[in-house]
Amino acid sequence: MTQPSRNLAILGLQWGDEGKGKLVDLLSARFQQVVRFQGGNNAGHTVVVNGQSIALHQVPSGALHPECFLVVGSGVLLNLEVFRQELDRLLQRGIDVTDRLLISEKAHIILPHHIALDQWREGGAGVNKIGTTGRGIGPAYEMKAARMGVRMGDLKHPETLMDRMRPGYNEVCILLGPDAALPSLEAIASQLQAWAQPLLARIGDTQAHLMNAEARGEAILFEGAQATLLDIDHGTYPFVTSSNCSIGGLFTGTGLSPKSLGKVIGVAKAYTTRVGAGPMPSELLDATGDRLREVGREFGTTTGRPRRCGWFDAPITRHAVRTNGADGLGLMKLDVMDGFEEVGLVTGYRNSHGEVLTSLPSCAQDWLGVKPEVRMFKGWSQATRGVRALADLPKEARVYLDALMEAAEAPIAYLSTGPDRDEGFAWPGLFLEGMI
Ligand code: GDP
Ligand code: IMO
Ligand code: MG
Repeated sequence: MTQPSRNLAILGLQWGDEGKGKLVDLLSARFQQVVRFQGGNNAGHTVVVNGQSIALHQVPSGALHPECFLVVGSGVLLNLEVFRQELDRLLQRGIDVTDRLLISEKAHIILPHHIALDQWREGGAGVNKIGTTGRGIGPAYEMKAARMGVRMGDLKHPETLMDRMRPGYNEVCILLGPDAALPSLEAIASQLQAWAQPLLARIGDTQAHLMNAEARGEAILFEGAQATLLDIDHGTYPFVTSSNCSIGGLFTGTGLSPKSLGKVIGVAKAYTTRVGAGPMPSELLDATGDRLREVGREFGTTTGRPRRCGWFDAPITRHAVRTNGADGLGLMKLDVMDGFEEVGLVTGYRNSHGEVLTSLPSCAQDWLGVKPEVRMFKGWSQATRGVRALADLPKEARVYLDALMEAAEAPIAYLSTGPDRDEGFAWPGLFLEGMI
């Protein structure tokens, strides 16, 4: 009988910023390969070690473990300027990843006109504002689908680089008009080559690399970016990002088969946040929401925008657990709820006619008027910050967590009680026990 795969996926279950970076960093010590498979520098993954915080956007969060090989898969978008800056920042901290990095030759490149188009749509007269990160993500994925994208492998053929870029560039120029002040194609091409020069040797066949690593018996950690409710198919469309951030994107974004995956951890905060526009029935537009934002430091890692905050939303999380086949939750930031007199849990939704919803609405129109059903629990006065054992949790927190697990239809595999590596614990009896 074949052994079940040791490979593990870490995926967001809400609207992003759940704390995926912390969990990936924490688990990386047990894995030889850490892979990003979708998204671009719209992601901001924060890793905190001994109180020092490092924000990673495109470099996999296994970077801080010198034994980890880092892979940027084919489903990822790269902004080369930002990527170089990230590598330089890591270098300044004494972390050199260049010898343990491989970027897929199929990964697409974010170009200046993609960013200009994204910002044009979001700015001024835009009628379809999503509240994007303004990083050119949508247009870069659109160009990929329109077969006008430029891939990392194209950088190895500088003589055809301008020809690859021209069709997409011309379309954006027509749309934005002469006032857009885009850099010339020549300038873009030479800048790309300058940024790419030190990386050329690190561009290759990541699919074969990962398959070979598996054949050698190495374990792979898959690092999701964004989250299920931002997934272009399974999220709150159109208020989503432009990639499949749930489980399917892992396979298309690496070229590995479903047989290469063992367990799936779905990461969620003990409450809910969202950046940007779109439905969020759990949102608290009052002092409680403000308190979650202040205590949880809910300001975007990438754009600094304040995050919308609310109680834990079981309907969306359950949808995400089911979509991803999550085996367990990484439940983060419980400590942020310390000291609340009462804490809430959104257990269900009713539509504008007062009817109970049994599944999430698919259309933006159907989300209008959706109201949360909130169950309140007694809060806990004893702090959970830094708690490292189940027995040390206040009993009120246990009652809340038991209800949360039941409503989300998944057990907690890891509970996080602070940003640092040692703040939290693997839930006894679950599959992460002994791994953290
Ligand atoms: P990601 O995008 O999913 O990786 O999440 P972000 O890094 O954007 O946002 C999560 C934030 O919460 C980061 O600043 C983390 O350092 C922080 N964080 C993670 N886990 C905990 C926790 O258990 N408690 C607290 N207070 N902060 C946490
Ligand atoms: P991580 O990986 C939170 C949101 C944006 C916007 C929508 C579309 O750190 O969890 P885009 O720029 O992708 O076209 O924006 O998606 N968004 C995120 N929100 N965390 C992220 O990444 C996000 N990446 C995109 O705010 O609502
Ligand atoms: Mg983030």
